[in-house]
Amino acid sequence: MKRYVIDGEFGIDELKLVESDIPQPGPGEILVKMGAASLNYRDLLMVTGNYTRNLPFPLVPLSDGAGAVVATGPGVTRWKEGDRVCGCFFQEWPAGRITSEVPKTALGGAINGVLAEYVLFREGGVVSLPEHLSFREGATLPCAGVTAWNCLHTGGLTCGDTVLVMGSGGVSLFGLQLARAAGARVIATTGSVAKEERLRELGAGEVINYKTFPDWEKQVLKLTGGTGVDIVIEVGGAGTLLQSIKACRMGGQISLIGVLTGQRGEMNPFPAVMKGVSIHGIYVGSREMFLEMNRTISFQGIRPVIDRVFPFLQAREALRHLESGAHMGKVVIDIL
Ligand SMILES: NC(=O)c1ccc[n+]([C@@H]2O[C@H](COP(=O)([O-])OP(=O)(O)OC[C@H]3O[C@@H](n4cnc5c(N)ncnc54)[C@H](OP(=O)(O)O)[C@@H]3O)[C@@H](O)[C@H]2O)c1
Repeated sequence: MKRYVIDGEFGIDELKLVESDIPQPGPGEILVKMGAASLNYRDLLMVTGNYTRNLPFPLVPLSDGAGAVVATGPGVTRWKEGDRVCGCFFQEWPAGRITSEVPKTALGGAINGVLAEYVLFREGGVVSLPEHLSFREGATLPCAGVTAWNCLHTGGLTCGDTVLVMGSGGVSLFGLQLARAAGARVIATTGSVAKEERLRELGAGEVINYKTFPDWEKQVLKLTGGTGVDIVIEVGGAGTLLQSIKACRMGGQISLIGVLTGQRGEMNPFPAVMKGVSIHGIYVGSREMFLEMNRTISFQGIRPVIDRVFPFLQAREALRHLESGAHMGKVVIDIL
């Protein structure tokens, strides 16, 4: 079988396509023939050595994929050949609070990921693919979808809340769709005029261009009658956090997930104190959250937004496309 690996050198051009034996499932494992994988910003950071350079080489990158079970190891009772499944970002976070053991099971980082024709998962490390979704669509869910779900529901989202999503990347669009499905109003930002209309079509009540309005938090306050939003899905990090605090209502929540403005920076945290804002770090989510999200996705018939699909042999081109920032929603790689 074919698989891609990061093997000691970093950079998109250094990603290697190699041949290896199809692995056999051990006790408690299942073998999945992958149908599709999808890219997250993290994968770009991983491949370019900007996430961590301390990786278990050779490492198969990418956390998100979907496919069909082709074999089960001894003791597996939950799955059978032919079942359509999505891998969980963390192979061992069934439910409850995150612990220090959980990150050691992150696909495409701590352990091998899904950019391969066949992948071994732990029995409790997959969920069923919602029936109305294709492998391509299912492949978009594990990181971007579950992270957005966690951001909203750890934030205590209720019908009638206002949610701010930033940009039109994978997590933000899931945030938009899932918030709308829960009866929330969504304000979206984007740096692209071309993407503004599409954000409205997807359900954003208002769209603010952060290039036209560099002080976009003032626009958010204007649109909420000076109150601010209930929940912010914060993808920018140090460069945008202060603005997000200002855009948040008294006692609101910032679900802090991203580093799009860089991994370092300084800011004055005092406005968060004065507004009683909770700043909550989010690291994807548990299998239980994945199941809860899938229930909503199935019930509401939500279809993930796919920007572009690349063939398996063009995985490097797919990463370059993500790097360009031209995408809207998810970049998918066909594996079948
Ligand atoms: N903590 C976690 O568990 C977790 C999970 C998933 C992702 N993340 C992080 O969340 C961030 C987004 O990930 P992703 O995979 O959704 O990324 P992505 O699909 O690559 O989306 C990036 C988009 O964000 C927008 N953007 C770029 N710079 C921005 C800025 N300064 N302010 C507002 N928007 C900006 C752009 O959209 P426009 O062209 O519309 O402006 C860009 O296309 C990344 O930093 C990623 O590492 C964290």
